[in-house]
Amino acid sequence: MYGMILVGTAGSGKSLLTNALSGFLRAKDLDVITVNLDPGVIGLPYEPDVDIRNLITVTEIMEKYSLGPNGAMIMASDLLAVKLDEINDEIVQLKPEYVLVDTPGQMELFAFRASGPYVARGLSFEKRLVLYLFDAVFSNEPLNFVSNLFLFAAVYNRFVLPQYPVLSKVDLLPPEEIDKIVLWSEDPGELELAMQSQLTGDARLLSRDLLNAITRLGLYYTLTAVSATTQEGLVDLDAEIQRQFRGGEEID
Ligand code: GTP
Repeated sequence: MYGMILVGTAGSGKSLLTNALSGFLRAKDLDVITVNLDPGVIGLPYEPDVDIRNLITVTEIMEKYSLGPNGAMIMASDLLAVKLDEINDEIVQLKPEYVLVDTPGQMELFAFRASGPYVARGLSFEKRLVLYLFDAVFSNEPLNFVSNLFLFAAVYNRFVLPQYPVLSKVDLLPPEEIDKIVLWSEDPGELELAMQSQLTGDARLLSRDLLNAITRLGLYYTLTAVSATTQEGLVDLDAEIQRQFRGGEEID
């Protein structure tokens, strides 16, 4: 059983990509299930096969513990860990080949609290891959791109699992902008040139130091550009996923 855990900043496209990628893999006759781990989500673009909302809901927590929405979201995210066995039981019963795991909207509630890494490592997969989403719209200028790279590295540091970067929502930018972002991800020298020409002062110095730290750590990978809306790039993403799981070496 191969698990893919989708992580990214709020609104980066995790749910829509879960829908598009599960559809793509099913069209290849692969046995895929989807798991929703966001207890606070109201509407999803897919029908999850396993849904944390059947075990925990934010509204119930708000009522039971007299909490506001943010406090209840934090508590609900922490409770994910307590529900791990039940989630695993539901997944295992379905005997899937592939599992796509959609995580809570606010990434910090999953990645930066204790429960997220515990759950990500504790899901009963033989192999697992974190798909980290870079939202194309927020990655098309050097400062944002470097900040997102830093978040990618911070998430890796939390999970310490094979992690792969995906550029999401590429239909929202012109192709030349997408090519530029992908080039930055291929070649840190290109990103440094863009930083030199577009940034000044502390932003330039800090970005350069962050970039150096990330390249030194070996956490610099070429982005695979996809759109969940137009399906563009899903073939390439699938090829990468298969390479990670079946043939190639895991990135860790
Ligand atoms: P939260 O869990 O709510 O933080 O969001 P998410 O990361 O799951 O993102 P979601 O899939 O809900 O997408 C957020 C918004 O971006 C929605 O309005 C989607 O319709 C839109 N969106 C997601 N992917 C794409 C894409 O590939 N192309 C376009 N044009 N819009 C997209």
